[in-house]
Amino acid sequence: MLRNSSTHYGAIARLLHWGMAAIIILSIAAVELHEFFPKGSDPRAALMSAHFQIGVVVLLLIWVRLAAIFSDKVPPITPVPPLWQHIVAKLVHLGLYLCMIALPIVGIMMRQADDKIVTLLGIPLPALTGVNKEFAESLEEVHEVMAYLMIAMIIAHVAAAIWHHRVQKDNTILRMLPPRANS
Ligand code: HEM
Ligand code: HEM
Repeated sequence: MLRNSSTHYGAIARLLHWGMAAIIILSIAAVELHEFFPKGSDPRAALMSAHFQIGVVVLLLIWVRLAAIFSDKVPPITPVPPLWQHIVAKLVHLGLYLCMIALPIVGIMMRQADDKIVTLLGIPLPALTGVNKEFAESLEEVHEVMAYLMIAMIIAHVAAAIWHHRVQKDNTILRMLPPRANS
């Protein structure tokens, strides 16, 4: 099933969720690991380039994902969790969507303000801002704070998913897996 059913997220939502989760985690790992290589070295440049490219891909895919998620019904969790959990989960999802949009935009702008060209598959992206080194530094701080907020939300999100499965013993995670694997 491509679209969601009454018990499971459909293939489109699952592919976008797990695919984007994987590349976002890779991109965070890449930017954290680049520090271990000397300035000017090839591995350092390659890790940063992977970080930039993945960010731009996330910014493209998020619109497809939002269209897919908001044009479909979310499969209900059974047994039904308390209302506060539902509200907190929705707020964290909203925060994650905002980060998936804002982080790449801020990232692209901070590179361009620093007089660097951002490309996708070798094609330069249109300029979102002019060159302004001070602005670039401010954006870098925004990017950093937002990135760490996003990491905190991802940790809370994964912990909540495990909690639902192991402690509340409901179908929260099973809904995000292919139906055959668990029914
Ligand atoms: C989903 C998208 C993105 C996520 C989750 C993300 C996350 C992060 C994280 C965790 C850091 C390390 C914190 C820091 O030291 O500032 C970082 C740094 C950085 N990011 Fe991103 N980022 C994303 C997109 C982008 C994009 C699209 C660009 C540029 C095209 C970009 C450019 C940078 C730069 C230049 C740094 C600073 C690296 C350094 O310390 O020298 N990011 N990002
Ligand atoms: C790798 C471990 C992860 C696990 C086990 C996991 C698990 C889940 C589960 C079970 C749901 C369904 C929740 C519900 O319907 O209430 C979900 C939804 C969601 N997850 Fe994750 N997730 C992971 C990583 C991520 C990452 C890295 C992101 C980063 C942005 C993310 C963003 C979202 C969003 C926005 C939703 C709402 C539905 C959607 O847009 O697909 N997840 N996740």
